Amino acid sequence: MSRTARIELDGKSYEYPVVEGTEHELAIDISKLRAETGYITLDDGYGNTGSCKSAVTYIDGDKGILRYRGIPIEELAEKSTFIEAAYLVIFGHLPTIEERDRFATILMDNAMIDESMKKHFDAFSQSETHPMAITSAMVNLISGYEPDGGNIRTNEDMEAAAAKLMSKVRTIAAAAYKASIGEPIVYPRYDLRYAENFLHMMFTKPYLPYEPTPAVSKALNLFLLLHADHEQNCSTSTVRMVASSQANLFASCSAGVNALSGPRHGGANAAVIEMLEQIRDSDMDVKEYVRRVKDKEDGIKLMGFGHRVYRNFDPRSKILRAAAEDMFKELDVTDPLLDIAQELADTALSDDYFVERKLYPNVDFYSGMILRAMGIPINMFTVMFAIGRMPGWIANWKEIHDDEKNRIYRPRQIYVGPTDQHWIPREER
Ligand code: CMC
Repeated sequence: MSRTARIELDGKSYEYPVVEGTEHELAIDISKLRAETGYITLDDGYGNTGSCKSAVTYIDGDKGILRYRGIPIEELAEKSTFIEAAYLVIFGHLPTIEERDRFATILMDNAMIDESMKKHFDAFSQSETHPMAITSAMVNLISGYEPDGGNIRTNEDMEAAAAKLMSKVRTIAAAAYKASIGEPIVYPRYDLRYAENFLHMMFTKPYLPYEPTPAVSKALNLFLLLHADHEQNCSTSTVRMVASSQANLFASCSAGVNALSGPRHGGANAAVIEMLEQIRDSDMDVKEYVRRVKDKEDGIKLMGFGHRVYRNFDPRSKILRAAAEDMFKELDVTDPLLDIAQELADTALSDDYFVERKLYPNVDFYSGMILRAMGIPINMFTVMFAIGRMPGWIANWKEIHDDEKNRIYRPRQIYVGPTDQHWIPREER
């Protein structure tokens, strides 16, 4: 039975359809509201606004559920690889053996970036440019080397473009790091798989070969898989916004990299490590730090805690906490920051301030520890997130691209600036 919502405005009544998702999420479709009433809705931060219908990822924040294309994240984390999960996210189904092999071949064929692109990295050499800035610039630049990049007509074109972007962003990320420390770029190897190849390009030095260990490769695969998509977050909405203007895949995803760079989004995993280091290096103990957070001293927050959507627990953080413990055991690493992190989590989870506000560790609370144990430098943490999130951005770009009825994203606003002003001659101001 179709349901409607009624809105009373200025003595008149208007009806709007209720839309139900496949997981029974409910929304009021107000797309005709302005035309019929002259009113718009106001929703600062979009917390109550569904900006699109999407079939990629489902989250139930209260129950701590995350599913890619219907499959629970826990199952994928246990049984899948990043590349298989990426294929699922982008194309909507788990790849057959033939599809997986074809995708892997295109990934491998595109592992190199155009040789002439190297000169752009040279310009950044030892300039202390943040690798995230280099990554977004270089992802954008791929369009310059792929004049046909925006011209995706068939499934095969889409498959090629997706694999190209996923493969190149990994090479770009490692090269961005090398450029930022003034070392020569390391070329990909054709005998290594996706995660191993990244580790090779990151850590091989001209005088020192590097062989990734299975424990580190496994942890990296898991890290990337857990970040592959997360519904309409800030960067994914940015990608959709840019895509709605029919900007090409590379330009749209480069905008996603920039949106991800902020500390409230992708930058949080680095902020967690900085916070733990601050506690380690100061006289302050964990209890004192938590007291300062609760008193909102200097606006400090417990980084890696809280989430706009999860109000119970973040399923990714549960998986990563266990993986971090396994990895530390397997590598026989001890890290005092991990002890501080555990103490901080235990203190916060039993404190009324956090319990009442439903603040739990999010994915970034443990991902920073995992990246640190792999030897990934802190300024690369957000870049790692960007490599992982690429399938989600591509999938959301594809949804916009495939939807013939898609309109350009163009929200409205409530103007609160001055009215009726006039230009004043300069000498009278
Ligand atoms: N530490 C202390 N207090 C907090 C925290 C925190 N991490 N997060 C929220 N609060 C408080 C906030 O001050 C507010 O208190 P009050 O009711 O007294 O004003 C209350 O909890 C509600 O918070 P909010 O600001 O309405 O929450 P939000 O949904 O706007 O923000 C958030 C979500 C993730 C930006 C925020 O929790 C935060 O800044 N967390 C720390 C940064 C972080 O870990 N970010 C990574 C997010 S997960 C990665 C991803 O999926 O992108």
